[in-house]
Amino acid sequence: MKALILYRSHYGNTKEVAEVMAGEVKRLGHEALIQDLRLRLPELTDVDLVMIGAPTRMARVTWKAYRALRRLRRKDFGNKPVAVFDTYGPEPADPVKREEDRKWIHPGAAGRLLDKAAELGLNVRAECLRCEVEGMKGPLKKGEKEKAIAFARKLMPGKQKEQKIPKVKGKSKKEKVRKKGRQGITKKGKGQYIKARALKKKARPVRIIKKKR
Ligand SMILES: Cc1cc2nc3c(=O)[nH]c(=O)nc-3n(C[C@H](O)[C@H](O)[C@H](O)COP(=O)(O)O)c2cc1C
Repeated sequence: MKALILYRSHYGNTKEVAEVMAGEVKRLGHEALIQDLRLRLPELTDVDLVMIGAPTRMARVTWKAYRALRRLRRKDFGNKPVAVFDTYGPEPADPVKREEDRKWIHPGAAGRLLDKAAELGLNVRAECLRCEVEGMKGPLKKGEKEKAIAFARKLMPGKQKEQKIPKVKGKSKKEKVRKKGRQGITKKGKGQYIKARALKKKARPVRIIKKKR
């Protein structure tokens, strides 16, 4: 699979999130192309998934991210998945202040991108990634990069080599079954063999096999 990760970043926080996700996509054995939203959208024919992210500024999202979503639709990205992410914050620790500031933080850039993508009819993933920063210009809070890694993992299937089952010493399960199966075949009469269920304590005939001549 190939993922295209588009981002806009003023102080490097959103770019960092994009890079962390690109790294995880590659680690899972896929291709990742990462690009600034200010640049022209690349060729999309071999792209399987697009992630778009931007910072939340004045409770809004850059128009360049909206433009990219419109282009996805125009370039007929079809029903291929789109995921959105943003950076925001910092959220005040005091609950009263937090409630007062709510409109600046939620739904944030990611929420706005999600709404826009849905409005355009794109196959946008309902769950978005939101990474919080410590100060108005960053850096990312502790644990936010891990959130980004987990998000990328949810979007990309692991390739077979990652799911390799470790070899167990001794006889393989297949070999054991084959052997037991062979033991279970008993001769019935002239040219006829009965295949019994070897795994059961009491052998039970299940099939009559004609001997090949
Ligand atoms: C001018 C300015 C306005 C901001 N406005 C908001 C805001 O309305 N809501 C919010 O949650 N964060 C706001 N922030 C914090 C940014 O979202 C945060 O720093 C973000 O991580 C910046 O991302 P970037 O480094 O990729 O540009 C603002 C930051 C700046 C500098």
